[in-house]
This record gives sequence, structure tokens and C-alpha cells, in this order.
Amino acid sequence: MKLIIINGPNLNLLGKREPKIYGTASFEDYFKILQKNFPQHELSYYQSNIEGALIDKLHEVGFTYDGIIFNAAAYTHTSVGLGDAVKAIETPVIEVHISNVHAREEFRHQSFIAPNAKGVIAGFGLQSYDLAIASFS
Ligand code: DQA
Repeated sequence: MKLIIINGPNLNLLGKREPKIYGTASFEDYFKILQKNFPQHELSYYQSNIEGALIDKLHEVGFTYDGIIFNAAAYTHTSVGLGDAVKAIETPVIEVHISNVHAREEFRHQSFIAPNAKGVIAGFGLQSYDLAIASFS
């Protein structure tokens, strides 16, 4: 299947950013592991810190790809625009978080993505991405 991982703001700093919460691996390195773990899928990866760029990417892939694994990061909790984009497209979206957002500050309990996502996976570290990809097998 043709699957894309889309990561939102500050996730370009994975490995350096708050390693106690988000771990010590960069996403570029972890993406190589994902490609090895799931050779049956055609995986691609996109990251942006810009809300509009994430919306553009959802529009670009959202009618042709088989699945989107989406960690909207902080925009999860704030972005009506990203929530509307997920609603507007046809490709199923799995919302992913590295940390268990429900065990953290209350503002992280709200998601504008979840109501229109196929499912939500949170709290398994970078393995959250494995679990999301496995759901397409
Ligand atoms: C995150 C959780 C968000 O609350 C936070 O803003 C992030 C990362 C996660 O993957 O755990 O940047 O989406």
C-alpha cells in the first residue's frame, strides 16, 4: 500500500527535543527502521512546521494514497483547519502521538483531528508509528 507519514511542528527536532518524553532517535533514523519493518508498503515521509503546508500536503495525497499516518503535534490541539482538511479528503487518516497525550496537560486532551480520523494511537513512543502502519496490513 502507498502510505505517508506526515509530522507536524517541532517533530523535526526529534532526538534533541525533550528526550525524556520523545526519545533520543531522530525521525529520519526511525523512518529507515520503519521501511525495514514494513517492506510490503511504499512508505514516504513529510514534515513541516507550517500549518498551511500540512494542509496542502493532506490535499495533495488525500485522494490517491491508501493511508496517512498523521502526527499533527501541537496543531492537533488547536487547528480547525487541519481538522477540516482531514474531513475533506478520502484517504483514511490515523492520528498518532509519541507520548500519551491523555496523561499530560489538559490542553493536550483535545484533538481537532480525532473526530475525522479512522483511529488514534498514542503513548507507545516511536512504536506508535509501527502500530499505525500495521493497521493497514
Ligand atoms: C505530540 C504530542 C503533542 O501534544 C505535542 O505538542 C507534540 C508531540 C506527540 O507525538 O506526543 O509536539 O504530538
